[in-house]
Amino acid sequence: MLWNDWHPVAARCTLDPARVHCTVLLGVSVRVAIDAAGTIAVDRADGAALCHEERYGLVWACPGTPTRPVLAIAEADEPDRPAIQVGSVGVRAAGPRVIENFLDLGHLGYVHAGYLGDDPHTRVLPYSVDPLPGGGIIATGCKMYQPQASPAATEGFDVDYVYKVERPLTVCLYKSNPLHRDRFDIIYLFVQPVSEETSIAHPLLLCLPDGTTPQALRAFQQIIFMQDKPILENQTPKRLPLGDGIELPIAADKSSVAYRRWLAAIGLTYGVIPPSAKGARAA
Ligand SMILES: [Fe+2]
Repeated sequence: MLWNDWHPVAARCTLDPARVHCTVLLGVSVRVAIDAAGTIAVDRADGAALCHEERYGLVWACPGTPTRPVLAIAEADEPDRPAIQVGSVGVRAAGPRVIENFLDLGHLGYVHAGYLGDDPHTRVLPYSVDPLPGGGIIATGCKMYQPQASPAATEGFDVDYVYKVERPLTVCLYKSNPLHRDRFDIIYLFVQPVSEETSIAHPLLLCLPDGTTPQALRAFQQIIFMQDKPILENQTPKRLPLGDGIELPIAADKSSVAYRRWLAAIGLTYGVIPPSAKGARAA
């Protein structure tokens, strides 16, 4: 499933003609090169060329035979919504763990206190989770008081959230823009699976530019992700357990439960402990 899908391996703005960018995708050593004319080449360490595409300022590679195009993001075509690459962050955690953490409303008031939540506004209000017609899940009606929802925010406010998981290692968040509360800022998180238990996260911002700068948006997102990194790296087991009842969920974890069930239903086995795994229930 992941072998024949697209994964980000670099952001164009970080590539340098003077040196080859070396990374790992699904256990395969990959080299990304750019020449002086801006042409990008992606190949394996043994020299075999890899399928690659460029979208949203990111270089995407598929180690197998792609069964579908790179994810289409309609909002990326909106003229007042520049795509900002945040950079890549290596995480010693399985890809599905990184996605699940991003979906978790319950941690905002604790891990991101002062930014995306705060005591005593830590309670997660009821929200809805539904399947997406093309596969995946959508969580709607999420609300959270945030003291500093984005660098454009000048005061705290109740932020509306919608989460969408369209592919196993892609999650996106729509959140109210602080200056245009009827419009959303969009944050995508694409996870490059390095191995079953290590990942590289590539956040992509599609935010309204008013009241902020690309530099401020990028810096803000890097602060947020650096708060998540140690939490993610301390989770055990490293792989995401998909069997019901392995980690006891509470009502706030509705989207996480739906994500795990969807991964189990589509039969993902990489970076997870499948529900049928021996000892999964007892773990
Ligand atoms: Fe977080």
